[in-house]
Amino acid sequence: MCGIIGYVGKKEAYEILIKGLERLEYRGYDSAGVALLSNNVISVYKKKGKVAELKNFIQKTPKGNIGIAHTRWATHGSPSDKNAHPQLSNSGNIAIVHNGIIENYLAIKEVLIKKGYKFKSDTDTEVLVNLIEDIRINGSKKLNLDEAVRLALQKVTGAYAILVLLKDEPDTVVIAKMGSPVVLGIGKEEFFIASDATPIIEYTNKVIYLEDEEMAIIKTNRESNKITIKTINNKIKNPNIHTIKTKIEELEKGGFKHFMLKEIFEQPHAIKDSILGRIKNGKVRMEEIGEYKNNLLNAKRIIILACGTSFHAGLESKYFFEEYSHIPVLVEYASEFRYRKPVIYKDDVVVAISQSGETADTLAAVKLAKEQGATIFSLCNVVGSSISRIAHVPIYTFAGPEIGVASTKAFTTQIAVLLLLCLFIASEKRLLSNKKIQNILTEFENIPQKIEQILLEDKSVKEIALKLYEMQNFIYLGRGYGFPLALEGALKLKEISYIHAEGYTAGEMKHGLLALVDKNMPVLFIANKGSSYEKVVSNIMEVKARNGIVISLITKGDARIKKIVDYVIEIPETSDVMLPFVASIPLQLLAYHIALLRGCEIDKPRNLAKSVTVE
Ligand code: M6R
Repeated sequence: MCGIIGYVGKKEAYEILIKGLERLEYRGYDSAGVALLSNNVISVYKKKGKVAELKNFIQKTPKGNIGIAHTRWATHGSPSDKNAHPQLSNSGNIAIVHNGIIENYLAIKEVLIKKGYKFKSDTDTEVLVNLIEDIRINGSKKLNLDEAVRLALQKVTGAYAILVLLKDEPDTVVIAKMGSPVVLGIGKEEFFIASDATPIIEYTNKVIYLEDEEMAIIKTNRESNKITIKTINNKIKNPNIHTIKTKIEELEKGGFKHFMLKEIFEQPHAIKDSILGRIKNGKVRMEEIGEYKNNLLNAKRIIILACGTSFHAGLESKYFFEEYSHIPVLVEYASEFRYRKPVIYKDDVVVAISQSGETADTLAAVKLAKEQGATIFSLCNVVGSSISRIAHVPIYTFAGPEIGVASTKAFTTQIAVLLLLCLFIASEKRLLSNKKIQNILTEFENIPQKIEQILLEDKSVKEIALKLYEMQNFIYLGRGYGFPLALEGALKLKEISYIHAEGYTAGEMKHGLLALVDKNMPVLFIANKGSSYEKVVSNIMEVKARNGIVISLITKGDARIKKIVDYVIEIPETSDVMLPFVASIPLQLLAYHIALLRGCEIDKPRNLAKSVTVE
């Protein structure tokens, strides 16, 4: 949700900032801007629209070795030139870019207006930059930028990751964080600052993750480079420098038309990488659990906290946990959980699932559960992300960077690792025999190959998309392991093709949903030959009797369903538990092809952003 980037060094900053914005654009893309500081002048360029529009708008490459930039996902104020960042203070002396929301901005704005400040935008960010200015100039002597920022932050509530420049301090960038993420890249005589590491890794793999309520002051001039990290309460901190392993090729499309398509096709590999080293000699190893093993094995309950696709992965894992580890599982939308008064016991284990590891609602829900004594496991795809850092047991998927806003490989790798976690519990508690576990693992290890087979059948999914892409509504139905898949399939379709789609359990259909079915309603059934097969066939008949258009995901060779439905997508035969791994692939492909035919912006769907760092 908004991408911010900064550069401090000896090189020309503009190209680095623009390239960085392009890499961060998946976080928000309704306006973009840069500010460069050179010869005690701050030049700001900003424009509504994507980074490409900003580039077209800036005719002549601006100069400067220090700069900050922003790509926006609007919260306060509609997408427009005036609301784009950087925002300037009234005097034009201070420039800021901001990711987050200043919750008490209206109260601060009123005070500033009384003091004579004028506001040109509708943003909370412009209030913050003027607060910094006001604090800097209103004492007996002018404060340094970092001190003014520090004191201003003590007056605000909400979330922020900010980069601030001051005209009179031409060698300095001040950075601060609360809630929203910031990574500092340490190069040779240069520094990079960004919302995440994606724009940094082509320059350096040495990074510092700023923690909440921390600020960094970076100064560079001919003689020296200096980075100081302290809290907003003025306590100096020693930075921990981490080495990141992501390779630059992972951030490119690699010949695919879209990141989403590339990421769908990466799934066999992503699953293999995520289970690598976790299965040995027919046993599951989860070494990261370490000293928290007993907390997990003795848990009376598992609470899964997540949003969006990660929530669906959590829901899928509820079936795994109940089937194999006999532990009751609650799967909760993090955004609801944190605002209730949830009952949390000390022997609860919370599993927070988040691809980005930065989702604000999930992070806040985890903090709440941790404060109340639960043991926190996290499952994230981004090493060092905020949720992983707060967890007692950070567990990772190794899917590689997911750039497309629609989650694909994150889902399949999340359920892969969650399945292993269940089997680990089952094995440690001797709930399943070694033989049974070995059989499950043998089938599981063949999943990447089965996904490859499905990917080869992409053409048949495309043909169905061609027939149905002009429809206005869709229903997705499944039972058991197929139910979370129905939710996920519908989410994929609506977010990238803007078609209204509902995911439902097939059993609930007759309690209301069926009223929607007529000859214009495509209904997609997950109808593999599993334990719910007969029941699902009956549901298909019910829809056909009302003239609905039925698309069925069927087990390869299922002639019975083929005869009664309009379209089929065949998937290889699997046990119930492996269904989500194979059935999710055609659902992703169908959404992709429909969106493509409708001419939608697949990787950056309207109104959405990859990493939702506001509540
Ligand atoms: O990074 P997270 O897994 O925490 O993100 C959660 C959701 O925002 C995310 O899954 C979203 O629903 C995706 N766009 C779905 O494709």
